[in-house]
Amino acid sequence: MSSTVPDPTDTSASTAASASFPDVRMRRLRTHPRLREMVRETRLSPSDFILPLFVRHGENQRIPISSMPGHSQLTVDLLSAEVAEIASLGIPAVILFGIPSEKDAVGSDACDENGIVAEAVRAIKAGNSDLLVITDVCFCEFTDHGHCGIVNDRHGALDVDNDATLEILATQAVTHARAGADMVAPSGMMDGMVGAIRGGLDAVGFTNLPILSYAVKYASAFYGPFREAVESAPGFGDRRSYQMDPANAGEALREAALDVAEGADLLMVKPALAYLDIIRRVKDAHPGVPLAAYNVSGEYAMVKAAAEAGWIDEQGVAMEILLAIKRAGADMILTYFAKDACRWLA
Ligand code: PBG
Repeated sequence: MSSTVPDPTDTSASTAASASFPDVRMRRLRTHPRLREMVRETRLSPSDFILPLFVRHGENQRIPISSMPGHSQLTVDLLSAEVAEIASLGIPAVILFGIPSEKDAVGSDACDENGIVAEAVRAIKAGNSDLLVITDVCFCEFTDHGHCGIVNDRHGALDVDNDATLEILATQAVTHARAGADMVAPSGMMDGMVGAIRGGLDAVGFTNLPILSYAVKYASAFYGPFREAVESAPGFGDRRSYQMDPANAGEALREAALDVAEGADLLMVKPALAYLDIIRRVKDAHPGVPLAAYNVSGEYAMVKAAAEAGWIDEQGVAMEILLAIKRAGADMILTYFAKDACRWLA
């Protein structure tokens, strides 16, 4: 007889694995709501979220970003109230993106101690907030051509000059650190960016300032609404000579390994939803390195638009997406849903 009562003294895994219906009924664990909660493998909490904020110069202005309902460009004076609300929801961290009043070829505002991001960091820190303030370190918001670094003519084609950009990336990171940033997050996909920034920070004493590297960042169509938000669409060409081809997964592992070797303290995969396989593989390759995933603007806008049309349930879909990102291996999620998710979790 094959269907006998299992020997209770046999604890070998094979017994459990070979058990089957009707001895095993998976639905038993799904019957009671409390039990379902107890056997849940992945949980979201407010401490998982990092909220992106868009800041600009000026006074008392909140300029809505049309493709990202619920998000606005905020003037620096409004930040302390905003930050108080964010902290009261239990969100531990924000990441700042700046819209400078003037853009030029080399993104000077980004390295200016009175530039928009430095000013925003100081404004938040002046309010004695204990929020973790992360700054995005990149040039696309600050250059008039919208590319992520210094553009040079290379053999008749305009392209971002990697090594020239490394120098100003280190300067930008130091500018943010001096303003009081708690962590810097380079997003420009320049080769050697983590090492250059680490060197720049260490040289002036910021040896303990962590670097969250956008190690695995794809050239994605999902960034569309963000580029409206910071007015950073490239003036010519695209970002495919520095951001990754969405077709590549092995390359993601090389990118992550290089950044870890250069001293990245945390890694990021971006976007998130269409790259859950990449999140899992990077986490498995670097289990000891905290991993962030960026649930980007286009992912947010799709949910918002479908919800506004009445086609999906916003809360259900948003929470399922965030849960999936965490289940895939992310330890933290940069998301425009951060505030809503905290309210839904409460
Ligand atoms: C670059 C940067 C981008 C985003 C974050 N940092 C845009 C880009 O690479 O074009 C996109 C974030 C989003 O879409 O939500 N500084």
